[in-house]
Amino acid sequence: MTASPKLLEPIKLGDLQLNNRVVHAPMTRTKAEADFTPTDLMGEYYAQRSGAGLLIAEATAVSPDAIAWMHQPGAFKPKHVEGWKKVTDAVHAKGSKIFLQIWHPGRATHTALNNGTLAVAPSAIRLENDQIHTPEGKKDYETPRALETEEIPGIVAQFKQAAIYAQEANFDGVEIHGANGYLIDQFLQSKTNHRADGYGGSIENRYRFLDEVVQAVLDVFPANRVGVRLAPNGVFNDMGSNDYQEQFLYVASRLNEYSLAYLHMMDGLAFGFHERGEPLTLAQFREVYHGTLIGNCGYTQETAEQRISSGEADMIAFGRPFISTPDLVERFQHGWALNEELDPAKWYLPVTSEGYTDLPTAQEAELA
Ligand SMILES: Cc1cc2nc3c(=O)[nH]c(=O)nc-3n(C[C@H](O)[C@H](O)[C@H](O)COP(=O)(O)O)c2cc1C
Repeated sequence: MTASPKLLEPIKLGDLQLNNRVVHAPMTRTKAEADFTPTDLMGEYYAQRSGAGLLIAEATAVSPDAIAWMHQPGAFKPKHVEGWKKVTDAVHAKGSKIFLQIWHPGRATHTALNNGTLAVAPSAIRLENDQIHTPEGKKDYETPRALETEEIPGIVAQFKQAAIYAQEANFDGVEIHGANGYLIDQFLQSKTNHRADGYGGSIENRYRFLDEVVQAVLDVFPANRVGVRLAPNGVFNDMGSNDYQEQFLYVASRLNEYSLAYLHMMDGLAFGFHERGEPLTLAQFREVYHGTLIGNCGYTQETAEQRISSGEADMIAFGRPFISTPDLVERFQHGWALNEELDPAKWYLPVTSEGYTDLPTAQEAELA
């Protein structure tokens, strides 16, 4: 008898039958080719973690100007589709499901990564208190260029094209990355959006860009194959706005319009908290959002089970535990100890199996 019957219970996500409620959180690991084509190694990584009911593959650039990491993957040219097909085939062969996280970093990039193209953002406000890895070493962020109103449909179209490529690559769905201070989050938050046009100035207007991206992606995938990720409490990438409560509860209530596959909330504080007030909780989102809710950040087997049993969440995503422990779900099933957390210095090693696909299963660690 498992200690987490709810977490390990199958669930229906739209028309998809998932084996359990454990989600592999999207995690950038910089294991793609230099031209952003996913590698066989990535297929091996995701296949190893296919015990998860749902895997969400890492942040994937929607355009050649949306590069924030060397060796990150892309979904902006046909060659990328060929690479991703190997990943989806590997996961499907193991009986699991996989969504692709489609992403534009907005201001969180650098000319040194984008062939000299300056980052774009809702407003010309620089990301402070952090640096970015470039081919020329770590650098301060640059002040981005504010997007012209007429340019915005072009960026929305990039998300749509990425969704088309994701579909061609046989992903079961896509997750729109609205979290962690990237372009969509930059539009949502008053800290980074000082626009005077229809995309800024009010909570409703700041939501407009995400709304347009969702509608564009819904031209490609049915609503029950599209998720949205938000980080209302996060400080990562220099985020946190005084009106975060009103903004994010509004966004969640508006997203009800679409009957999406899920809303993925980074509710926990384990990835950094902006301390602008009390953190928003899953219970608060449950009140305003009527679909499937995924929680994330700092969860353990025990706290995940509690959240699902109490009805606050339907599924829980695990990030760092999945990096170090490929057979996380099997360990939960049997009550086996997890591997030690991987040293963060090994998170972004370019294209190597070290700290990526070489972490032992319970059998290999002789725990089983
Ligand atoms: C190495 C690393 C890479 C990450 N990359 C992404 C990403 O590409 N997209 C995203 O939405 N979150 C990303 N995150 C955040 C994770 O999805 C997750 O929210 C975070 O690790 C907190 O969950 P945990 O406490 O279970 O690790 C990343 C986290 C880590 C540690």
